[in-house]
Amino acid sequence: MSVPSDPRREVASLLAAPGRIAELKQETVHLPSWDLNAHQVWDIELLLNGAFSPLSGFLGEEDYNRVVRDMHLADGQLWPIPINLDVSEEFGSTVKPGSRIALRHPEGMVLAVLEVSDRWTPDRTREAREVFGTTDDSHPGVYQALNQGPVYLGGRLEGLELPPHHTFRSLRRGPLELREQFRRLGWSAIVAFQTRNPLHRAHVELTKQAMAATNANLLLHPVVGRTSPGDVDYFSRVRCYQAVMPHYPENSAQLSLLPLAMRMGGPREAVWHGIIRANYGCTHFIVGRDHAGPRDRSGKPFYGPDDARNLAQELQGQIGLSIVGFEEMVYSEGKGTYIPRSRVETSDKILSLSGTDLRDRLRDGRDIPSWFSFPEVIDELRTRFPSRNRQGYTVFFTGLSGSGKSTVANILMAKLMEIDPRPVTLLDGDIVRKNLSSELGFSKAHRDLNIQRIGFVASEITKNRGVAICAPIAPYASTRRQVRELISGYGGFVEVHIATPIEICEERDRKGLYAKARAGIIKGFTGIDDPYEAPEHPELRIDTAGMSAEQAAQEIVKHLQHEGFLDPDETSDLV
Ligand code: PPS
Repeated sequence: MSVPSDPRREVASLLAAPGRIAELKQETVHLPSWDLNAHQVWDIELLLNGAFSPLSGFLGEEDYNRVVRDMHLADGQLWPIPINLDVSEEFGSTVKPGSRIALRHPEGMVLAVLEVSDRWTPDRTREAREVFGTTDDSHPGVYQALNQGPVYLGGRLEGLELPPHHTFRSLRRGPLELREQFRRLGWSAIVAFQTRNPLHRAHVELTKQAMAATNANLLLHPVVGRTSPGDVDYFSRVRCYQAVMPHYPENSAQLSLLPLAMRMGGPREAVWHGIIRANYGCTHFIVGRDHAGPRDRSGKPFYGPDDARNLAQELQGQIGLSIVGFEEMVYSEGKGTYIPRSRVETSDKILSLSGTDLRDRLRDGRDIPSWFSFPEVIDELRTRFPSRNRQGYTVFFTGLSGSGKSTVANILMAKLMEIDPRPVTLLDGDIVRKNLSSELGFSKAHRDLNIQRIGFVASEITKNRGVAICAPIAPYASTRRQVRELISGYGGFVEVHIATPIEICEERDRKGLYAKARAGIIKGFTGIDDPYEAPEHPELRIDTAGMSAEQAAQEIVKHLQHEGFLDPDETSDLV
C-alpha cells in the first residue's frame, strides 16, 4: 500500500486570536445577526476547527460553481461538496458584498463573523443534479439542497467560539487536537473508519484487517452530526462504540466523534470524508461498498456499490491519504470466524444477518446470535429499541376538511384507551388551532408551522413511549415527510390517509366552510383554492364514503395489531 510521501495536509483553525476575539465581540453588538440552523451549526464547527481546510469560510460564487461542476475550488484544490450559508430571501436582501454579519448559535452566542464577499441566488436544481447525480428528493442531500434558503452568502469567517457540546465531551477532538494526540502517542500511520451505524463483529474484523494491511493504528471516527433519516441516534451508537473499543488490542485504537452534517452523496461524499480525515491527521481511510449511499423510494441505490471507492481511489493523491478498499466480511460457521466474501470456499457454511433482519428481531424481541454482535452492543440496542408493543407510536391522520378525520380519531382514541396501557393523546386539527397554534392562519408558512408543532409534540410523546393521535389536514407532502422522519427516530409512525373524495366532503359540509369557500368568503381553502397533496405511500388509506367511522377505526386497530404495536392478548376479542 503506497502512502503519499507527505500525507499531512495544511490545517488552519479559523478561530481568531484572543485579542481579536475581544474586538469582534465589541463589533457584534452593532452587526446584523443570522441565527444558524442545526445544519449550519454542524458546518460552521468543522469550518472553524479546520476540518474543512482549505476552506476559509463559506464558498463564494466562483468557488461554488466550480465545486458543483467539477469538484474543485476556483484555485484548483479538490473540494467536492458545496458549503454555503443559505439564508431567506428577506435576510439576503438586507446584505451586500462587504457587509459583516454575526452568526449566532441557537442558544444566542455569536460563533463567528462573516465578511460577505458574495451573495447570489443559485440554481439549486442544477446543484442537486450535478453534486448528487439526481433531482429525486428522496435523496437526503437533494432534499436538503432543494429546501434550504434560496439565497447563498459566501465569505471569510473569523471565529469567536466553537459550538458548545454537552454530551461525550471527552470524545470530541478537533483536527489540531487529534493530530497533537497522535504525535504524543507516536502514531505515524493512522487508518480512519467512518460510520453512522452501531459496530458489530464484522466491522471490528474488517477494521482489524485494515490495521494489519496498512500497519496502522485505528481512528474510529463516527459521524454524530446529521446522518441518514432512520439511523440509530448517536447517543446509543456512542455507547455501542465505547463497548466495542476493548475488543481492539490495547493502545491500538482511538474513538473520536465527528460532528458532520452528512449529505449522503456517495462518491463525492467519500472524497469529502477522505479530505476531512486527512485534515484530522490520518494517513489511510477505509471506503467500502455503498459508502454514504442512500436508496430511493423503491429501495434502489442511487450509486453503484463501488462508485465511491473507485472515485476516492482515483483522487487519493489530491485527497492526501491512501484509500483502503474493503470487502464485505461474512461469518463462516465451520471456521467460527469472519472471512472476506471472496475467500469463501464451497465447504463454508455462511451465516449472515441483514440490517432489516436485525431490526425485525429487535422489534419482535427475538434472539440476536452472538456470532453477529457483542453482548454489550445487543443489550444497548435492545434498550434503545424495545419491541414495538413497548415503544411509543404516532397515528398521523391526513385528509380534507370534512373527510372524517376527527370522528375516526376520536373513536380510535376511545378504543386504544380501552386496550392499550400506554397514555393516549389526541392532537386534533381544530383543538390544536385553538391552543397550540391559536395565532396561526392558513398561509403555506402557517400551515407548515402548525404541522411542525404538532409533529414536535407527537415526537416528544412518542419518545416517552406514549401514543399520539394527530388529525390535522396536513395538506403538504414535504411537511408530512419531515414529521415522519422526526417521529420515526423515536418509535412507530403510522400515516392514515382519510381519502374521502372532495365531492362527499363538500356535500357533508358540516361546518358550512365549503359553501363559504365557494362564495369566496374564505380564501385559500384546502381542496378548493389551496392544494391537497395526497400521500403516495401512507400505511393505511381509508375512504369513509365506503365504511362507517367505527369500521375505519377498527381497520386502524387491526393494522396496529398486525404491525406489533398492540399486545395480542389485549386485542384478541376486538379484532
Ligand atoms: S392545516 O392545513 O393542517 O394546518 O389545517 P388544520 O390545522 O387541520 O385546520 C383545519 C381546520 O381549520 C378550518 N379552516 C380551514 N381549513 C382549510 N383551509 C382553510 N382555509 C381553513 N380555514 C379554516 C377547518 O375547519 C379545518 O377543520 P377540519 O376538522 O379539517 O374540518
